[in-house]
Amino acid sequence: MAFALPWGRRAVREEDVAEWAAALADVHAHVLPGVDDGPATWDEALALCRDAAARGTRTLVATPHYIPGGPWAVPWPRVRERAEELQRRVDEAGIPLRVRPGQELMLDPLLPDHLRDGNAGSLSGGEAARPGDTVLVELPLTGRPLFLFDVLHELLIMGLKVLLAHTERYEYLRAEDLEELARMGVRFQVNAGSFLPGASAERRARAWQLLRAGRVAALGSDTHGAHRPPGLDVALRAILAERQGHTWLDAMRRAAV
Ligand SMILES: [Fe+2]
Repeated sequence: MAFALPWGRRAVREEDVAEWAAALADVHAHVLPGVDDGPATWDEALALCRDAAARGTRTLVATPHYIPGGPWAVPWPRVRERAEELQRRVDEAGIPLRVRPGQELMLDPLLPDHLRDGNAGSLSGGEAARPGDTVLVELPLTGRPLFLFDVLHELLIMGLKVLLAHTERYEYLRAEDLEELARMGVRFQVNAGSFLPGASAERRARAWQLLRAGRVAALGSDTHGAHRPPGLDVALRAILAERQGHTWLDAMRRAAV
């Protein structure tokens, strides 16, 4: 049974960690080989999947970068093929993990066209992004794009649900910006590692602020390899140590990204 510790945190039961790790998908993971800065080989990709499953993840969305106009603009049909191939290898290896295809789409004025053309895809995995599907969109880390709100509006008008990748990483987004984005209907994904002491104090503070405000719709490991491992387990332990941990995680389960 969980009980209150003197400093206001709670003892965490490993059964709870396992239950939440199985209930929530890792919606942001670079696990497909040879398509971005994720793993280079199938063996490395399989090792990441094995690690994810060992940490309790049962559903993982493979989200290679999609950056229009560059070497990482891997077309959506190829991403889907690679994800199917990874699932086949995961099954052969007896790893209990479902791999869904997805993409981490860099915000770009051409992005809506690429989604209409079927060259870019959604987290829902279909041949083309359709109204009601969720797209994982990342922003540049270096500075706020002038077209930020315009392009996000266009995606929303297309009927897509926008999930902002690792929202806590954008130092230039102020509280008012996050308010405005939330008002528009943009939902926020936070990286599991950002809740932990390994993250910078600022990034960690932003991750916890978003969580405590009930603004986090989904968690992702954003794994790129063994140096940033897959799995949500370590973050789940930290979140479940908070009094409202279950409430925040339940909101994510209901968001069902
Ligand atoms: Fe990523």
